[in-house]
Amino acid sequence: MPTKSKRGGGGSRSQPLAIELLESDHRKVEGLFEQYEAEKEGEEETRRAIAQRICGELTVHAQVEEELFYPWLRENLDDDDMEMVEEAQVEHNSAKDLIAQIEAATEVDEVFDAKVKVLSEYIKHHVKEEENEIFEEVADKKEELDELGQEMAARKAELMEELGLAEDEEPMPAKAGGKGKSQGDSARGSR
Ligand SMILES: [Fe+2]
Ligand SMILES: [Fe+2]
Repeated sequence: MPTKSKRGGGGSRSQPLAIELLESDHRKVEGLFEQYEAEKEGEEETRRAIAQRICGELTVHAQVEEELFYPWLRENLDDDDMEMVEEAQVEHNSAKDLIAQIEAATEVDEVFDAKVKVLSEYIKHHVKEEENEIFEEVADKKEELDELGQEMAARKAELMEELGLAEDEEPMPAKAGGKGKSQGDSARGSR
């Protein structure tokens, strides 16, 4: 399983925080799609639960990107690269359509499986473009992206809680210490 980025060069902390967070989300969702695939013949309830988790994770991830990461890209990328960001945004919109269909589905049948499958292929393509093209362009702006990453982590924790997804996460200091504060290393990187 690809747990390391192509750019690591050995050091596990060489990535700017924002990129580390986004890549860790990407790996997590890939894992969930694999789980779904493995349950293809399994119980409907299990499949629905995994699909719902995928939809929730993607919704939060996309929102954090759209609220914080993409605006930062629009400010910091050259005009030549802006097309990549707009393309990514359009891909988000289409993915959200599919997510809404999956969330609204009454039956967990072949059509449901097909929707999850197409979503997985769609996301795979999108993630590849983000990681190989967009992240590549900005990876040298470590300081700014470390700072942005703090904001993104805090926003993500907030959204996860709003969607009731938080309890499935690794134990986070947010509960004991009050929220809004960004998570330390303990909250990520363990997947
Ligand atoms: Fe994205
Ligand atoms: Fe992403």
